[in-house]
Amino acid sequence: MDKIVVEGGGRLVGSISISGAKNAALPILAASILPSGPSTFKNVPQLQDVATMAKLLRRLGGEVDGKKTMVVHPPHGRKLKLEAPYELVKTMRASVLVLGPLVARFGKARVSQPGGCAIGTRPIDQHLRGLEAMGAKIHLDHGYVDVECKRLRGATIVLDMPTVTGCENLMMAAALAKGRTVIENAAREPEVEDLALLLNKMGARVQGAGTAIITIDGVDELQPVEHTIIADRIEAGTFAVAAAVTRGDVLLEGAQAEHMDAMLAKLRGAGVTVTVERGGVRVRGGGDLRPVDITTQPHPGFPTDMQAQFMMMATQARGESMIKETIFENRFMHVPELARMGADIHTDGRVAVIRGPRKLTGAPVMATDLRASASLVIAGLVASGKTEVLRVYHLDRGYEAIEKKLRGVGAKIKRVKA
Ligand code: EPU
Repeated sequence: MDKIVVEGGGRLVGSISISGAKNAALPILAASILPSGPSTFKNVPQLQDVATMAKLLRRLGGEVDGKKTMVVHPPHGRKLKLEAPYELVKTMRASVLVLGPLVARFGKARVSQPGGCAIGTRPIDQHLRGLEAMGAKIHLDHGYVDVECKRLRGATIVLDMPTVTGCENLMMAAALAKGRTVIENAAREPEVEDLALLLNKMGARVQGAGTAIITIDGVDELQPVEHTIIADRIEAGTFAVAAAVTRGDVLLEGAQAEHMDAMLAKLRGAGVTVTVERGGVRVRGGGDLRPVDITTQPHPGFPTDMQAQFMMMATQARGESMIKETIFENRFMHVPELARMGADIHTDGRVAVIRGPRKLTGAPVMATDLRASASLVIAGLVASGKTEVLRVYHLDRGYEAIEKKLRGVGAKIKRVKA
């Protein structure tokens, strides 16, 4: 299996172009099922998860062409198959995003139930409860969920928690339902807003995306569109941390600061200079880093997807930092690996206390999720000697050409093919 090899020590200087957002691209590609003609998506990130979604759309009977600009013909005709199989759902939980669009457009769908995953149990009960409220019949059978409803009807749905993909699934379902759907305690992530923008271009009537109450007035049909995907705030944040810990100076080209408030505030709190410029966000590290206290929260709070990277940064700060993970119950897999590189981190349940600054030394490391792997790459940039990050497929799921982008700003990093 490929690995990433990093030689630590240098400053990162220059600019990095930020790709389209993975977590916007996935629901948006799923939404291509809703109209009857082909939609065109621009700024699609080249990622394993996007390839998995394309494979799923083809499996359903759709056609997918192109890469950065992708044209998707929704499933139709004899090839139509209303099933997301286990082998795809188990490699990518976000496959469940086809459920809402399939039921809304074709009246039924069968989706493998995602099991637990490396960061937590992650059930989909909220997705199903919402569809049930809209009149769908739900049947669990042999690890699959069968959902059926000739025409969904609008309903008021109060989510137990602001689940991102749950909210997106229900928005897509409601777009073609009869009548008004109100989603309360809705997710407010920028990716939810981007989906709403896309749906409205298609002719849907979605209001309130970006707030805790989203109202969708269903329509009878939707039109194919062209849409450009927003910048990936998590990719941008990851490179921001890399710039900060290497005392570098990096322009994150195309980064959308308005989606990054919580993390930029924490960077500034740590003593990092962050400026919003015309071309993006510029991050300059310099003097000693200050410790941070972070609690992960749904947007606009601090994102769980940046927790591992900030924990790595905290190992370089002078003093004691505290990080609390409230979204996923098992998202500290980077802790033992960072500790092997010399970090001083103690965890108690969902709380980690990090004491710094610590000199890190390179080591072979691996992680079981995407963001944890990213934190290890950043650790490699400041560690003395060589760090080998194994299980690179996690990184490839969510970071486009991470080693090339980092090399472009001076990092000594390469991918070694198996
Ligand atoms: N939850 C339930 N029931 C549900 C749905 C969610 O209990 O029906 C719980 C989850 O177990 C979790 C919490 O609610 O404890 C929030 O999970 P959410 O549903 O919001 O997560 P998600 O939609 O599965 C998306 C991102 C994740 C990101 C989370 C949180 C996509 C494709 N994935 O997942 O991204 O961590 O929101 O912001 O949008 C990543 O990119 O590395 C990643 C894991």
